[in-house]
Amino acid sequence: MAPHTEQLSTGQPSSGQLITGQLSTGQLTRPAVQLRELTRSFDGRTVLDGIDLDLPAGQFTALLGHSGSGKSTLLRAIAGLDQKVTGSGRLTAPERLSVVFQDARLLPWRRVLDNVLLGTDGEEKGRAALAEVGLKGRELAWPNELSGGEAQRAALARSLVREPELLLADEPFGALDALTRIKMRALLRELWERHRPSVLLVTHDVDEAIVLADRVLVLDRGRIGVDLTVDRSRPRGEYRSRLLGALGVTEDSR
Ligand SMILES: Nc1ncnc2c1ncn2[C@@H]1O[C@H](COP(=O)(O)OP(=O)(O)OP(=O)(O)O)[C@@H](O)[C@H]1O
Ligand SMILES: [Mg+2]
Repeated sequence: MAPHTEQLSTGQPSSGQLITGQLSTGQLTRPAVQLRELTRSFDGRTVLDGIDLDLPAGQFTALLGHSGSGKSTLLRAIAGLDQKVTGSGRLTAPERLSVVFQDARLLPWRRVLDNVLLGTDGEEKGRAALAEVGLKGRELAWPNELSGGEAQRAALARSLVREPELLLADEPFGALDALTRIKMRALLRELWERHRPSVLLVTHDVDEAIVLADRVLVLDRGRIGVDLTVDRSRPRGEYRSRLLGALGVTEDSR
């Protein structure tokens, strides 16, 4: 992916958030995301408690954590989607980023191709993105004619067409059946290998994290409690036990 030379920011600052302005060329390529002392609270309750984190360009990172630990809050902060939240700290992220959620969020009154193209031009790119996710021939379908898995494929195509430097995915396969989830994981990894954006994937699923990511983070009490680099030549079981342990789950209690 060509390095871009624009200003990097997360878009709209949250209150108290300091957004890094013009960066030097050296900083433009790596890291893709830089968080320093990032704090977020709701009604005086701290959810993110001074997070320091770098996500290098092109890295596939998974973020685990208990329900309510702040994974989506962190993802929204990086996406610049949390303007009304109280927070402080420094946050740098690429301008060209895409977000994929658990539900595909397709506009029901637009055909699939038009959903993919939303806010962009270049019909050919949209068609190519749909072909990449296996939806060639469904360009003119309506969203309600798609299965859950197909709708998520369309959502991935919509994110691809923007050629993101950073792809933020919040439990994108959480609502899919087990078989579709396995196929979608493979597709996501394949798309990442081809386009090499930085990916931050929020998931509840330890196995999904280990299968897909090269680095796994665990968010715990507002901080990154575990930061694990996954060596693919090592047995997955080692990482699994360690991550389940960090989440307070023993193999027996599953
Ligand atoms: N808009 C909001 N107003 C008030 N509290 C909020 C808001 N959004 C999130 N919270 C609170 O912040 C905490 C973290 O929420 P968040 O959605 O980030 O958790 P999560 O780790 O993504 O959980 P899950 O795994 O269930 O999706 C929760 O306690 C939640 O209730
Ligand atoms: Mg969440």
